[in-house]
Amino acid sequence: VFTVRTNEVKATIQPTMWGIFFEDINLGADGGLYAELVKNRSFEFDNALMGWKEQKKEGAVGSLVVNNLAVFDKANRRYIHLESKTEAGYGLSNEGFRGMGIKKDNGYDFSVWARRPAGSKVTLKVELVGSQGAVIGEATVVPEGHDWKKYAVSFKASVTDPKAHLNVWLNGMGAVDLDMISLFPQDTWKQRPGGLRADMVQLLADMKPGFLRFPGGCIVEGRNIDERFQWKKTIGKVEDRDLLINRWNVEFKHRLTPDYYQSFGLGFFEYFQLCEDIGAAPLPILNCGMACQFNTGEVVPLDQLDPFVDDALDLIEFANGPVNSEWGKKRAEMGHPAPFNMKMLGVGNENWGPLYIERLKVFTKAIKAKYPEIEIVNSSGTDPNGDRFDYLNRELRAMNADIIDEHYYRAPKWFLDNAKRYDSYNRKGPKIFAGEYAAQSVNIASPDNKNNWQCALAEAAFMTGLERNADVVVMASYAPLFAHAEGWQWTPDLIWVDNLRSYGTANYQVQKLFSVNKGSVVVPMLFGNEAAAGQKGLYGSASLDKRTNELILKVVNTLGKAQDADFIIEGAKGSRGTLTELSSNKLDQVNSFEEPLAIAPEQKAVQVKGNKLDISLKPYSVNVIRIKVS
Ligand code: AHR
Repeated sequence: VFTVRTNEVKATIQPTMWGIFFEDINLGADGGLYAELVKNRSFEFDNALMGWKEQKKEGAVGSLVVNNLAVFDKANRRYIHLESKTEAGYGLSNEGFRGMGIKKDNGYDFSVWARRPAGSKVTLKVELVGSQGAVIGEATVVPEGHDWKKYAVSFKASVTDPKAHLNVWLNGMGAVDLDMISLFPQDTWKQRPGGLRADMVQLLADMKPGFLRFPGGCIVEGRNIDERFQWKKTIGKVEDRDLLINRWNVEFKHRLTPDYYQSFGLGFFEYFQLCEDIGAAPLPILNCGMACQFNTGEVVPLDQLDPFVDDALDLIEFANGPVNSEWGKKRAEMGHPAPFNMKMLGVGNENWGPLYIERLKVFTKAIKAKYPEIEIVNSSGTDPNGDRFDYLNRELRAMNADIIDEHYYRAPKWFLDNAKRYDSYNRKGPKIFAGEYAAQSVNIASPDNKNNWQCALAEAAFMTGLERNADVVVMASYAPLFAHAEGWQWTPDLIWVDNLRSYGTANYQVQKLFSVNKGSVVVPMLFGNEAAAGQKGLYGSASLDKRTNELILKVVNTLGKAQDADFIIEGAKGSRGTLTELSSNKLDQVNSFEEPLAIAPEQKAVQVKGNKLDISLKPYSVNVIRIKVS
């Protein structure tokens, strides 16, 4: 029997409690959320022609050469020079990111920067070609003169095809220079030109996330300092954004993704805009002057940190500053004069040791001096039980840090064993952000890991412990978020996509269920005199939703048998409610492209009789009960 003390408020649940961690890993951005279909559109990959192939029709003669302006402070220095010496047909094709996912009757926007040398009469024929070789969409572009100019045409596709490609032919004889060759679907999120994949954003919006952390992850740190993420290079006109090799373009767990780069078409402005769209508080994380310690581990000398600290201060101005401030003006010029209302900033990701603490202190001093209202999210390294963690925890406490970002990639058992992790946590001092977690079915980031029900169930049990301790734990997010089925480096992941499809895993269903059933305050749910944390394999938490006057009970049955759960709800006087269940008899059950909703919520009515609610919990189930209370 569980006793629920509806009149005893234990903690306030922060609006940020359940959120999203985004990183450009597993083709999360380019090839994923960022809907650009052309790979290496500006020829800036290390291999300038990666993704591109010369095309010649029978008898055609032509040539291509990649030009590099060699102006080293300029982004996008390369362009391609094409020359057709016959009428027969000479051009280029682009393979897309694992092909191009094309939808019948959808509109496509093609654009290109082009210039034509004097005397040349060539025009461009653009063709979308399906996997069977048929042309499924086409358009013509007529470059007009000797100066660089952007040309845009739109056309409809006649067929759905997950593996199309793009041809750009020169019509007639002559030469042309091309750059930023781009193709976007028109059905992007909010139909924004050059925008994001709508199905992927919709899955995020459906979670009603409290926050969105971006852009990572290790990607923030980079393989070395030169290749760190620099937010200032990701704003402004897309053609002026400086492409970067992706930190996950390394051999990782015997997998290599050599074509993984960041075009930054999804840059910091777009991240803030996404947060606003889906109602999530923005949580950017910045490099703290340290490269990934699992990689080169380079650091910036303490006396050289100023540009890094300036990046942090300028980011706050970019997000929140008035339109007449230097960086607020740039935000306004990009179409958003209103502030983005950023309240938190992360400094460093998974950085550790004295090297981190001494850099963090420099950032903290500068940020708090200018923006005392900004809460700083601090790294706790990678091992929630190890010495590094203990050291950081001590140091961060001594600094009176705002929020500590803890990461747990562990076996399902760890999550069950740690459901009480914060029950006796020191209430004075820093709050906790469970910033990256995911139960690993095999081993950390093993390519054999599965997003199975056993892992999702263990995460749900752990999450009841986070919610119960909402006075300490103010934010939590599963990680990583997205993975492309043909381009991933790390598994498990919350949402899987291919070129046309996407689905939420069992873990996604758990995250969403908790998030859309977030209460406002925690009330005790006791098993005897103790928190419900593992007795008879049951884990639970209770909260009140003050907006709707509902009691929300979350109960996880981790055993493979049905169990009766009887609740005595203090103060309840009989009312109807709902029970939403996620369950499977099989711990190895997964959702998939073929069966995206194999594990999905089912709802039924429940009845409180007097102050009693008796329900039967299915084997291996996550249950959310909502009941009206006065
Ligand atoms: O989520 C994948 C990686 O795991 C992140 O980049 C890093 O922060 C952690 O080690």
